[in-house]
Amino acid sequence: MPAPLISPSILSADFARLGEEVRAIDAAGADWIHVDVMDGHFVPNLTIGPMVVKALRPHTAMPLDVHLMISPVDPFIDAFADAGADYITFHPEAGPHAHRTVQAIKAHGKKAGISLNPATPAKTLDYLIEDIDLVLVMSVNPGFGGQSFIASQLRKIEAVRKMIDKAGRDVRLEVDGGVDAETARLCVSAGADVLVAGTATFRGGPDRYAANIAALKGLG
Ligand code: DX5
Ligand code: ZN
Repeated sequence: MPAPLISPSILSADFARLGEEVRAIDAAGADWIHVDVMDGHFVPNLTIGPMVVKALRPHTAMPLDVHLMISPVDPFIDAFADAGADYITFHPEAGPHAHRTVQAIKAHGKKAGISLNPATPAKTLDYLIEDIDLVLVMSVNPGFGGQSFIASQLRKIEAVRKMIDKAGRDVRLEVDGGVDAETARLCVSAGADVLVAGTATFRGGPDRYAANIAALKGLG
């Protein structure tokens, strides 16, 4: 099985030294940078907006993997696209017209992702799979880093993997929440190819980043 791509969530980074942190995880073998955007309304926490994406853009050539936990989504797509996001992922519950939102993201030449909350079924993708570039399976309820992996989501990862293979398209299958070296292995066996990890990347400080990322890739 090929090693998964690792997309560290900057939610667990030191926000006072964010540019430095991004350069450190880049040097330590990360593949993407996961940016968690929360609005205090769709999820019970507040984080950052497009200004931070724009500020980080010059610090790395890695794809910026922007996870929008906001409602509504549509009024903010231009801002995140212009700020330099590569992937823009949203939750279909955040608005009435998920297909239109996907089209709006793609109109900017960006990759569009759909995120499935733990209670949201895989069949939500039935009429979106032909148009999207990424599925993000949430293995915790969105809002906070450091939560425990919800095991029932492994079945969903398997179901989504089948849908992607059937569609015969190049769609990434990403998992987010409670991913550590052990749950990473389970996710990859179930069919995931990109893993988000906040706590498990940043724990122990900069001296540990390379070893932490290697462990997540199953190379530790
Ligand atoms: C949760 C976020 C996650 C989170 C992951 O709402 O979408 O990206 O920060 O954090 P860990 O890896 O600590 O579970
Ligand atoms: Zn996330």
